[in-house]
Amino acid sequence: MLDPNVIVIKYGGSLLEDPAHRRDFLKDIAALSKKVKVVLVHGGGKEITRALDQKGIQARFVDGLRVTDEATMDVVEDVLARLNREIVRELEGFGVRAEGYSGKSDRVLSARPIPDLGRVGKPEHVDLPVFGRLLARPPLPVFYSVAVDSVGRSLNINADDFALALALACRAQRLVFLTDSGGVLDSAGKQIPTIDRPLSENLIGSGVITGGMLVKARASLDAVEKGVGSVDITKNIKYLLTSDETASAVTRFTGQAA
Ligand SMILES: Nc1ncnc2c1ncn2[C@@H]1O[C@H](COP(=O)(O)OP(=O)(O)OP(=O)(O)O)[C@@H](O)[C@H]1O
Ligand SMILES: [Mg+2]
Repeated sequence: MLDPNVIVIKYGGSLLEDPAHRRDFLKDIAALSKKVKVVLVHGGGKEITRALDQKGIQARFVDGLRVTDEATMDVVEDVLARLNREIVRELEGFGVRAEGYSGKSDRVLSARPIPDLGRVGKPEHVDLPVFGRLLARPPLPVFYSVAVDSVGRSLNINADDFALALALACRAQRLVFLTDSGGVLDSAGKQIPTIDRPLSENLIGSGVITGGMLVKARASLDAVEKGVGSVDITKNIKYLLTSDETASAVTRFTGQAA
């Protein structure tokens, strides 16, 4: 069993593009990492789509997952690796040591390809000795969501699924998804405070939860039902720095832990 005092935080692609929010968020991450072990996982969806556009490659999604041919995989890896270096540097600017990784680093996360989606994978195995060693090191680990397949080739992993795999592997006390909408919104655009499996299925069935939120909602339910202490979707992590959680705007997932 790895250190359970871990908070896994997934930082979404569109928020990354807001410079003021990004500065504020990374400063909060730096402060939080002085109190508890933080694992940061980031996406980069918007920037990947823009880079593909420039190459004349059309982005295509199936149930929120990006269809990834070989040319798209090269772009995904380039964009995410660059964003990763930027985030590490910016965190260090706030006085914390940080280190960038992907699932390919010592093969910490391996995945299997999802049929018909090209180089897209579903996380299959977290190498616990490798992950444990990495958690035991002082720098704050910052992951971009590329994993390896069984022969060492890259697979594009949705960053929510990547964060879920790491949170399950260490039975994290919390998993927090940061995204631009600030939570799951109902059909009237109002944030839903708590969601359990029946409500989630209802929202998916009625087309209220779609696209990227579909992946996030499924990952969130999976996490609470498999023993992650608490799972939130929100827009900022200030509530993790204070003891007053009631004032925060989050969508919290609840479920019967296994
Ligand atoms: N019911 C809903 N409530 C909120 N957002 C929703 C809902 N249904 C669909 N969405 C969409 O899901 C998007 C969030 O997922 P998306 O994958 O685009 O971002 P992300 O996961 O934060 O970033 P990245 O994929 O780059 O890591 C929102 O911007 C919104 O358009
Ligand atoms: Mg997403």
